[in-house]
Amino acid sequence: MAEEFDKEFWEQRYTGDQSMNPDRQPNPYLLSAARDLVVGSALDAGCGEGAEAIWLAEHGWTVTALDLAEGALQRARQRAAAHGSGITSRIEWRQVDLTGWKPADERFDLVCSNYVHPTGSHEEMVRRLAAAVAPGGTLLVVDHLRTDGHGHGHGHGHGTHTRSDEPMVTRAVDDLSAGIDTDEWEIVVAQEHTRIVAASDGEEKMLHDAVLVARRRS
Ligand SMILES: C[S@@+](CC[C@H](N)C(=O)[O-])C[C@H]1O[C@@H](n2cnc3c(N)ncnc32)[C@H](O)[C@@H]1O
Repeated sequence: MAEEFDKEFWEQRYTGDQSMNPDRQPNPYLLSAARDLVVGSALDAGCGEGAEAIWLAEHGWTVTALDLAEGALQRARQRAAAHGSGITSRIEWRQVDLTGWKPADERFDLVCSNYVHPTGSHEEMVRRLAAAVAPGGTLLVVDHLRTDGHGHGHGHGHGTHTRSDEPMVTRAVDDLSAGIDTDEWEIVVAQEHTRIVAASDGEEKMLHDAVLVARRRS
């Protein structure tokens, strides 16, 4: 097991024996954040196998989905293809390392990033993702919550592994908004949340999440 969650690590995750649960449903924070938004353009940064990107496309969004791992994008493309051309035509998949990525001229009505652990500074990454949000647009960032049960240092972050051996870096809720200037942003949600999900080993597990939803002032 690599110490750093680098490209090699993620490619192994997606090409190795370990299932990443291809039937996983989009996370509930996206559904909640998107519920009241006018449909437009969305960026999913660190899209993994594409559950969120596909859900957004199904609901009329035009989606740009980024991931470091070719293996993730390959699985995501396959999964999207099963939904037909109406969905695939709405999603552009891009192989991108968010560690150095900066938005070009493009701005999105919704930018989401869920459980992405860049090898560099997470705060910097959130700041760069925030810069990709259009005025009036929404930023959603979700990560594993640091609790007493985990959070011991490992590699570059605070990694630990669940029983099903999924890599996990944990953060406090405040970590997610550290790079957000409240003069420019309204914090809509900054909270801890617990939910039960089906793990890739078929068992249920409890996820403790840190969730940030922020709206860029117009
Ligand atoms: C734990 S998975 C989460 C996937 C998806 N967002 C979800 O919620 O299921 C983390 C994803 O982030 C991607 N990732 C990790 N580091 C990255 C980086 N520096 N740039 C882009 N993607 C990265 C990995 O390849 C992986 O697909």
